[in-house]
Amino acid sequence: MMKLQDMGTAEAVQTPGMPSRRKIFRMAAAGAAGLVGGMALSARVAHAEEASSAPRVAIGDRLVEDDAEGPLTPLKVEDLTVGRPLLAFALNAETGKPRTESRLNKIVLLRLPEAELDAESKALSAGGVLAFSAICTHQGCEIKTWMKSEKVFACFCHSSKFNPTKRGAVAGGPAPRSLPALPLRLEGDQLVVAGEFSSPPGSMLQG
Ligand code: FES
Repeated sequence: MMKLQDMGTAEAVQTPGMPSRRKIFRMAAAGAAGLVGGMALSARVAHAEEASSAPRVAIGDRLVEDDAEGPLTPLKVEDLTVGRPLLAFALNAETGKPRTESRLNKIVLLRLPEAELDAESKALSAGGVLAFSAICTHQGCEIKTWMKSEKVFACFCHSSKFNPTKRGAVAGGPAPRSLPALPLRLEGDQLVVAGEFSSPPGSMLQG
């Protein structure tokens, strides 16, 4: 007759055709990892679909303040204070409505003294105003802080920094790529979108 201590030993012996307990554990762990990986992949796909299907900021759009109340008034250079970021959306030139369908269309504006801009930044700016995607390229938090001492945008979710006078280049933190820059021009005294984002806005897409 088999003793109790023998049963433990017998249980540890792998039955032909049956996975061992260690193997079952590995299979369960792999399944869980696959599930998590699948969820992450789904999020990436959903994000990519949002990025590809959302109405984009278009050349010729005016800009309006993100939380403006009352009638929408296109922004002018003098609406911005030097060194104070302003969140904005593009105003669809055809419908007269802001392109708020996707947060990927959110823009952060910054007015700097024109003397501080090099030729490349000047070419992107209008009246000293520079425009960038307001969505951090790390994990998508909103960029709305200007660090005057370092002259960089800061994302306080995980401390990424971006240099607006270097086409939004990463100046610190975990962000994997630059903040997409949006060229501007002036029409009369209004700020107008003059080109496409320098790379796709958003956190998951690598531009
Ligand atoms: S989301 Fe901006 S640093 Fe992580």
